[in-house]
Amino acid sequence: MHLLATSTQRNLGMAIAVVAIVGFAVYLIYNVLWAGRAEKGSELDLAPNRKPYLSDEQLETSKLDLALVSGLVTLVIIGVALPLYWLGEPGRQQGYLEYSREQFTGRGAGLYEESCSSCHGGGGLGGTTDHTIADDNGNFVAAIKWEAPALTTTLYRFSEEEVRHILDYGRPPTPMQAWGLPGGGPLTSQQVDELIQYIQSIQLSPEQVQGEVMDGLVAQVRSDVRAANPELAARLDAAAAAVATAGPDEAAAEAAAREVAALEQELREASEQYIRSLAPADRGELLFDNGVYGCARCHTPRDSWQFTGPEVTPGAGPVVLERGSGAEAETIAQLGGLIPADISGGGGFGPNLTNGATLRQFDSAEGHASFIAIGSQEGVGYGNFGQGDGGGQMPAFGICVGDRDSGERSPIYGFCITEDGGTRPGMLTDAQIADIVAYERSEEFNLPAAVPGRGS
Ligand code: HEC
Ligand code: HEC
Repeated sequence: MHLLATSTQRNLGMAIAVVAIVGFAVYLIYNVLWAGRAEKGSELDLAPNRKPYLSDEQLETSKLDLALVSGLVTLVIIGVALPLYWLGEPGRQQGYLEYSREQFTGRGAGLYEESCSSCHGGGGLGGTTDHTIADDNGNFVAAIKWEAPALTTTLYRFSEEEVRHILDYGRPPTPMQAWGLPGGGPLTSQQVDELIQYIQSIQLSPEQVQGEVMDGLVAQVRSDVRAANPELAARLDAAAAAVATAGPDEAAAEAAAREVAALEQELREASEQYIRSLAPADRGELLFDNGVYGCARCHTPRDSWQFTGPEVTPGAGPVVLERGSGAEAETIAQLGGLIPADISGGGGFGPNLTNGATLRQFDSAEGHASFIAIGSQEGVGYGNFGQGDGGGQMPAFGICVGDRDSGERSPIYGFCITEDGGTRPGMLTDAQIADIVAYERSEEFNLPAAVPGRGS
């Protein structure tokens, strides 16, 4: 953008210089070589100051009026046109900002495709990456797929400075490596800005965010709701089978597909009804486990891991674990606890919240909820006595923080302020956060350490 601007200015300057030089040359040629030569007559006759000038009448009327009018016009230009120009100036600057945003977004999109999409998916919609788990001595423990979260709500939860921190330093020990120069990565701070600008351009609307939060809850209760509505489930299965067996008969295939869509809609309404009817703590558990919209991916061990396989037995090469199966449990036992058990809230990238830890941190449900709403800020303590050590890594779930602590450093700002001057809501509603708090303060969540695998 800067390069482009300088080159436009340089081109303009060159054009003006060429016009001036050519003009001066023409002037010289005309005067010195040509017009300056021949005497056309006697100086007495031709000298301009010897000619009679206008009469007093003429001077005091049309000539004077002309001088006054041109003075007035000049004044009008100074008095009106200049302020008008300055009125337009902010618009011009705004246009320039938008232009540079577009430039940044375009370049960020290119960088994203190159460096990030292999893990975070095309368009930032989320994906997985192969990863190897090793023990403290660097010995191979297991091969897994690690889920790389969708980046389409990142700026609802993290400020731009926090995103910059994640990009600069990565998130060890996860596969998210340091990308910025401060963390030893390859990207300059301007490239990191461009990536943040690109991330801003792919953020979902608040309505889409709430829709996706609900989609995640509905997916989690699907089998429960099917079990509670056996007749609906049977009709759905029959319709799905009809789609599969419709063959080349297009009309039949279309009718079957319409039937499936209608029944899916019915199942969805039943699911939403079911979710509304749950006790707050149970709904809170669903919200806690809700993928990129939830908490488990940072607070529950192994939640971001996908187990596929199994391939080879422990000790004899790669162990690929299958989630939830007997084989997984067995392998984990054989691995001697190298992989922590997946106790909900038992700690991962974020601290262990169970076994009374969070209850000690927050005396009241209100304080607890407001921490989840605003997240942590680097260097700002939290909790009852500010004893929590804010690292800025706990996202804000209840308010949009995209612009928080971003200075005038980059052209990236304004995500949380909407075009009509309003503020964007957070990712979760107050009611949803209250449900999560009910879950985290429940007895089930705070089972004592005596329960095998529980506790910190
Ligand atoms: C090798 C795979 C990989 C690559 C390449 C990668 N990431 Fe990540 N990224 C991850 C994983 C995995 C996580 C989640 C870590 C965790 O579980 O806490 C993550 C987390 C993040 C987060 C935090 C999101 C959140 O909500 O917690 C951001 C932002 C991010 N990556 C941006 C990027 C950008 C931008 C690039 C390209 C410069 C990039 N990543 C490249 C794997 C990758
Ligand atoms: C991107 C990872 C991440 C996600 C997602 C996340 N957290 Fe956290 N959380 C953290 C980190 C890291 C901390 C520690 C504070 C810090 O480093 O700033 C933390 C701290 C906390 C604490 C304070 C714990 C203590 O004892 O100090 C609570 C409570 C909490 N998170 C609840 C939640 C809830 C509820 C959700 C989901 C709505 C959630 N977290 C989602 C990373 C995460």
